[in-house]
Amino acid sequence: VAKRRFDDFEGFPRGWFVVAFSDELPVSGTLQLHYFDRELVAYRGEDGVVRILDGHCPHMGASMGAGGTVVGTSIVCPFHRWRFEGDGRCVEIPYCQEIPKKAAVGTWPVIERNGLVHLWYHPKGGEPEFDVPTLPNHGSSEWLPWRHSRIRIKTHSKEIVENVVDIAHFEPVHGTHVGTFDNEFKGHLAIQRNSGIAYPRGGGKDRFALEATYYGPGFQISDMRGVPAQPACERAHDGRRRDAGPAVRRGAEAQRRQRRATRRSRKGYIDNLTTGFLEDVRIWENKAYRQPPLLCKADGPIMKLRKWYSQFYDAA
Ligand code: FES
Ligand SMILES: [Fe+2]
Repeated sequence: VAKRRFDDFEGFPRGWFVVAFSDELPVSGTLQLHYFDRELVAYRGEDGVVRILDGHCPHMGASMGAGGTVVGTSIVCPFHRWRFEGDGRCVEIPYCQEIPKKAAVGTWPVIERNGLVHLWYHPKGGEPEFDVPTLPNHGSSEWLPWRHSRIRIKTHSKEIVENVVDIAHFEPVHGTHVGTFDNEFKGHLAIQRNSGIAYPRGGGKDRFALEATYYGPGFQISDMRGVPAQPACERAHDGRRRDAGPAVRRGAEAQRRQRRATRRSRKGYIDNLTTGFLEDVRIWENKAYRQPPLLCKADGPIMKLRKWYSQFYDAA
């Protein structure tokens, strides 16, 4: 295996990335997506299944995400109505009997799970190497639906992922007292366990315990417990970037229904999470990447995290 330097994370890492929320794609809906330096089109067929194809038509280059229409399990290009099946093949040209052999678009592996649409990215088109988890709470009547958002961040996703081991930033950036903190790396998983006391913006203090797990470089689930007053929360996010463009983070939070929680306290909880995230964003958007960083003994396992992250760049 070729040794990677930790400062040349070029291109995009292999992994599952959330590119849409399920409720953005009704039956027969289409979405124009810009990810991984390319244009893609996602659509939900009349059979309810989401498919993702390269977005530009091989005929004369129209964007199928800008006005394409769904017919059965296929999508029709808005320009001259060539029709493409979910496997990428052109199956109909309304004004021509003969379909050119090469008339096909690229396709991408998709998993729709937990109300999220994940795309498997591999720079050479390789098959998925791991799975995304099923969240037992998703869809349960005890939990509220996702509240989701999208934010563009001018940084490399390696910075976002690194946050997971950075024990020393919680106090200065978030005003959080960390009590216990540990990290575990297992194959494609990077886990953070963290408990302590948070000081919400609205005043007061909350004990919290969280376990945040990256499933590959692009998808993280955080299980948060507020003790005792706050509702428990689950949060999903992903981020990615190449050196040229910003990372897009799609984040979603779901809360357990609690009799004591009011609409206002629920909103307050999520607003605080958002504020906390924006505190990180401000750092990321303005920092330089140090390789090697100048670390002290009490820093978190930054280099272990970088080694873990680098495995997704060694394209098999
Ligand atoms: S560009 Fe798509 S059908 Fe012509
Ligand atoms: Fe942070």
